[in-house]
Amino acid sequence: MVDEHLIEEALKARDKAYVPYSKFKVGAVVKTKSGQIFHGCNIENAAYPMCNCAERTALFSAYAHGETEFDTLVVVADTEGPVSPCGACRQVISELCPPSMKVILTNIHGDIEETTPMLLLPGAFTPKDLQKEER
Ligand code: THU
Repeated sequence: MVDEHLIEEALKARDKAYVPYSKFKVGAVVKTKSGQIFHGCNIENAAYPMCNCAERTALFSAYAHGETEFDTLVVVADTEGPVSPCGACRQVISELCPPSMKVILTNIHGDIEETTPMLLLPGAFTPKDLQKEER
């Protein structure tokens, strides 16, 4: 079931985007297992590579508030179909969220795709990959 309330919150988060360069606003909401909601928006910078995506803003904000157990992530933008998270965000989502967690991708026209971190980034680089063998 798609949570309309969470989508409305993601649209509110999108209104807070700071996008003087791309003019492309993205909103995200992460709901924690304890039921709290954290907003995220994209925040750009004149030094372009410093831009932070909405998904990462939401997840990092939750973490900064001591919330690390997630239930749902919603992302919204003005795209033709449901917005597609970038590769960097897929990697961060795959590390911080449970593999089968609900991820709702949508757009301002109401198109919706429901997916999971596992489906967004099969073969993600994981903490396990950092374990070195004895040489
Ligand atoms: N952006 C996001 O916030 N999330 C995505 O999943 C895709 C891209 C932002 C980054 C940049 O501020 C703007 O959209 C254009 O790439």
